[in-house]
Amino acid sequence: METGLSTRPILVTGATGGIGAATVKLLAIEGADVIAAGRNQKRLTELADETGCRTLSFDLTSEDEIKSALSGLDLYGVVNCGGWGGEIATPMDTDISVFDKVIDINARGTLLVMKYASETMIKSAKGGAIVNVSSQASLVGLAGHVSYASSKGAVDAMTRVSALELGKHNIRVNAVNPTVVMTPMSEWYWGRDDIGGPLIETMPLHKWATENDCAGPIVFLLSDAAAMITGVCLPIDGGFTAV
Ligand SMILES: NC(=O)c1ccc[n+]([C@@H]2O[C@H](COP(=O)([O-])OP(=O)(O)OC[C@H]3O[C@@H](n4cnc5c(N)ncnc54)[C@H](OP(=O)(O)O)[C@@H]3O)[C@@H](O)[C@H]2O)c1
Repeated sequence: METGLSTRPILVTGATGGIGAATVKLLAIEGADVIAAGRNQKRLTELADETGCRTLSFDLTSEDEIKSALSGLDLYGVVNCGGWGGEIATPMDTDISVFDKVIDINARGTLLVMKYASETMIKSAKGGAIVNVSSQASLVGLAGHVSYASSKGAVDAMTRVSALELGKHNIRVNAVNPTVVMTPMSEWYWGRDDIGGPLIETMPLHKWATENDCAGPIVFLLSDAAAMITGVCLPIDGGFTAV
């Protein structure tokens, strides 16, 4: 498969986390000019040493930081992977300050990155691709996920609207919706047999996704092999949302 990604500049937020780092590594194998973003400087330096990527640091809750990091940055692609899991709570007992923070990072942060990245992408008139990392939590009702699911539902909606608005600039916008990956974000909760067991039981493939299971479809959606795909929310869920 010809990805066409060689030398293309691609920003990956959340690059210091599990799925983001796997994506950086796969893009580097494809020869992309990767710009890894996160807040953890030590982890960014390690990634740069390992893959030769460039690095960028900004907080997804700060419009000023995002604007100054991305203004004028030449980009072909963006992976919005930075995110936070928030709390496990029902709508009745949710802590609304946690809801605000989850929305701030996952939804508002994703929109702000698309806003400032797409400005330059449109100006350069070379087309491009954006992949937003959503979750299966936006596609089905998962107990305890009211804040997180709301934030990822917003990501799905802004993916479709952005696909509509950016299509005329030949910029494609898609989302991936992974099931549980045992990164620190998930392990403390889904690693419990009483919580994870029933999900694995229901899922047709009966196994957790890995970081690489997510990186592959992300890189595919960025690539020329997906040239006619935009506005989709692609489950990476072992069939969990299909049954
Ligand atoms: N793990 C799962 O089961 C799962 C399932 C479906 C979807 N997802 C989604 O996949 C994405 C990556 O998750 P992961 O499992 O790889 O998580 P992770 O290992 O916990 O990584 C989270 C990443 O988000 C970054 N981040 C968090 N808050 C930030 C902020 N305020 N500003 C800038 N960066 C921030 C972190 O950067 P620093 O550490 O450098 O601050 C880190 O790179 C998230 O959007 C998550 O919602 C995860």
